[in-house]
Amino acid sequence: MILPGLIDSHVHLREPGATHKEDWDSGTAAALAGGFTALLAMPNTQPAVTDAETLAVALTAARKKARCDYAQYLGAGADNIATLPGLASAAAGLKMYLDQTYGPLRLDDMTVWMEHFARWPRHLPIVAHAEGRTLAAVILLAALYDRSLHIAHVSRREEILLIRRAKERGLKVTCEVAPHHLFLTSEDIPILGAGRSEVRPRLATPGDCAALWENLEVIDCFASDHAPHTLQEKDSSNPPPGFPGLETALPLLLTAVKESRLTLEDLILRMYTNPQRIFALPSQPDTWIEVDEEATWEICAAEMYTRSAWTPFEGWKVRGRVRRVVLRGQEAYRDGQVLAPPGYGKNLRMI
Ligand code: DOR
Ligand code: ZN
Repeated sequence: MILPGLIDSHVHLREPGATHKEDWDSGTAAALAGGFTALLAMPNTQPAVTDAETLAVALTAARKKARCDYAQYLGAGADNIATLPGLASAAAGLKMYLDQTYGPLRLDDMTVWMEHFARWPRHLPIVAHAEGRTLAAVILLAALYDRSLHIAHVSRREEILLIRRAKERGLKVTCEVAPHHLFLTSEDIPILGAGRSEVRPRLATPGDCAALWENLEVIDCFASDHAPHTLQEKDSSNPPPGFPGLETALPLLLTAVKESRLTLEDLILRMYTNPQRIFALPSQPDTWIEVDEEATWEICAAEMYTRSAWTPFEGWKVRGRVRRVVLRGQEAYRDGQVLAPPGYGKNLRMI
C-alpha cells in the first residue's frame, strides 16, 4: 500500500541541550522509520528557541544532522513579543505553553498572550498547549483577534466538545490529538508505573478517550507529541513527562483502521492533508511511503531509532508496517534501515 509521506506537526528533538535523550539525527531517523517525511520541532530545548540566536543554533544542528524534512517552532515568552515577528517566516509557527509542561516556557500572564496574538503575523500558525479552562480562554483570544489557532494534544471530553462548538460557530480553530490519548487512559497508569505514565496532558479517563473517538470529525490532525526521555529519567524520583511516539503512531492507527475504528482516508487526512494545509507546508515532490498493511508484529523499543530506548506500547501487537520511505526521489528507509544520511533533510520554510 502506498501512502503520502506523513507529516508530524508536534515533535520534541532535544537538541540543543539534551542530546542524550534525542538529537536531530536520531529523532529524524525515528521519523523516517515511522513513515514521517516531515516534522515540526518544538522549541522547549535547552536553551529554548526564543530568538534569532537560539533559532540559528537549532537550525544549524538541523542542517547538519536532519535526515527528513523539518521546520522549527519559536517559543513565546514574556520578553520576545516585539522580536519574534521578524523571525516568523523562518519558523514552523509560534508555540505558546499556557499550562504545565516540560521546560521553562510556560506563560501565565494573559496580557502577554494578547500581545503575541496582536503581533504574530496572522497568516502564520500559532499552536497552543492549553487544557481545560485555559483552552476556553485562548479560543476567546483567537476570536477577539480574529485569527487562526491550532490546539496541541487535545485529551479530554470537555476540550473536544469546546472545539466542536467553536468550529460550529465559525472560529478558525484546528486541533490535534496524540495517539497515546487515543490508545491509553488513566487505567493504564498502574500497568505502566508512575514515572513511565507521566505525560502532559495527563492520561485521561476512559470516558475522555471515548469522547475523542466519538468526535473524530473534530480532530484535524494526529500528531505524535514525540517527547523522548530516557528510562533512567522516567524511573527516577522526579520523572519528566512525555512519551516517544514517532515509531508507534502509524502502526497503532493502521491497527485501528483494521479494526474499523476509522478509515484509511481518515488517517491520510489527519497525518498528511490537514497538517500540510494548516501549517502551509510545501509539498514534497517524489515522496511516498510503502506500507505492508497485513504485517502483524510486536512493538519493541529495542528495534527503534529513538535514543530514549523505550515505549509505553512495548509488546503491543499491531498490524501494518512501514517497508519503504522515498523522500524527494531518494530511498530514505527500507526494511528497518534508515538510508537517508544526516544533512539530507531540508528546512521546509526555506525551500
Ligand atoms: O508530556 C509532555 N512532554 N508534554 C509536554 O507538553 C512537553 C513534553 C516534553 O517536552 O517532554
Ligand atoms: Zn509537546
